[in-house]
Amino acid sequence: MTNPVILISRQEIKKTIAKLAKQIRKDYEGKNPVIISVLKGSAVFFADLIRELNIPLQIEFVQVSSYGSGTESSGKIKVIQRLRTSIKDRHVLVIEDIVDTGNTLSYLLKYLARKKPASLKLCALTDKPSRRKVPVKIDYLGFTVPDKFIVGYGIDFNEEYRYLPDICVIN
Ligand code: IMP
Ligand code: MG
Repeated sequence: MTNPVILISRQEIKKTIAKLAKQIRKDYEGKNPVIISVLKGSAVFFADLIRELNIPLQIEFVQVSSYGSGTESSGKIKVIQRLRTSIKDRHVLVIEDIVDTGNTLSYLLKYLARKKPASLKLCALTDKPSRRKVPVKIDYLGFTVPDKFIVGYGIDFNEEYRYLPDICVIN
């Protein structure tokens, strides 16, 4: 394992979050949306994004686990922290750190859709389209990343590196 190398700097992340927030604010202002953080990877992004949004909204958390090897999700997904409040008839925006094969989000969006929200959209900090196995519509996207393993800014490798302020690549 080599030292992490910066792929996307904290300054670029900040700029992109400002852009995303502007778009999201335009679409959700006055709708009192429920913004759902998918734990744990999106926590840092989520915290920055909701403060940049600066509109009335509510926050919720879900945690999903996928059983697979260290760096790949298996497709066998389980919601390990369920949603604890009703989202029926609410405008829901899901916040995720990375869409890779698409297994996790495809499962999670189906789980949430069954709860009959008024609308359901996805905001992902990063997308690795080269690895997609299941189609997922990303409504708001921060960065497209190459087929490399990324860490930092909340994103982990075996629970390490989440604290790094930049998005980095490890080999
Ligand atoms: P998917 O189900 O394959 O789309 O995987 C999504 C999840 O896999 C993400 O939420 C991450 O937890 C993890 N993941 C995928 N690629 C990476 C990566 O490059 N670094 C860290 N975690 C990753
Ligand atoms: Mg994740």
